[in-house]
Amino acid sequence: MAQNTLIVSNWKMNLNLINSRKLISKLKILKIPKNIKNIVCPQYLLIPHISDLIKSSQIILGAQDCHFEEKGAFTGDSSILLIKEYGCKYVIIGHSERRQYHNEDNSEIKKKIKISIKNNIIPIVCVGESFLHRQNKSYLNFIYKQLDECIPKKMKQLVIAYEPIWAIGSGLTPTFDDITEVKESCKNFLNKTKKINDVKFLYGGSVNSRNFFEIKDKCKVDGALIGGASLLEKEITNVLKGDF
Ligand code: 13P
Repeated sequence: MAQNTLIVSNWKMNLNLINSRKLISKLKILKIPKNIKNIVCPQYLLIPHISDLIKSSQIILGAQDCHFEEKGAFTGDSSILLIKEYGCKYVIIGHSERRQYHNEDNSEIKKKIKISIKNNIIPIVCVGESFLHRQNKSYLNFIYKQLDECIPKKMKQLVIAYEPIWAIGSGLTPTFDDITEVKESCKNFLNKTKKINDVKFLYGGSVNSRNFFEIKDKCKVDGALIGGASLLEKEITNVLKGDF
């Protein structure tokens, strides 16, 4: 039985009602193999709309973030309980844009992971280094610290997305060896320190339909977290229809 491949579209703060409906209508009629999970993560205000549109399709809904409490006086935030009500199965947690623009730190991210597990929503936990960390070769220690401080012990159904900050939206990607090194290192680290064996490892950062299959093939990753290219019908459908 072929392993599941996760193709996660992170639409970020893009697409309106009309454009998201158009894109979803194209994704809905795509014939994709059963082992490909097509996970779409729209911005919050689109979730009810997309949740309606994807009924009886293969598309799986995810959210881009959640608060670490289920409810309360947190103006402007959104609860995992509503994410669940609308049928989301995944939530992206700890994206570098949340860390950068909302000052999210590892301890807050850990609480978000815990609340998502409690509610049976699978967290897609983002890790990844800056260009400086890559240059001065401290990237593995930086990622280990993120894993150590964010991931609860003995977690089941963990998805890690390795997104080097310098690769996001830049057109740059690490070498295949670099991605493979980080994948192996993360898996070993999680196994040793957290007793976690069951980890899906995604790569994210300037993924498109031209580079995805080689990354998948050479680095043996379990899928991709895709930003810009996930907004373009041709790009994302070519990834989803591809030869797995
Ligand atoms: P790009 O694919 O646009 O580089 O974005 C990657 C990303 O941040 C996905 O979460």
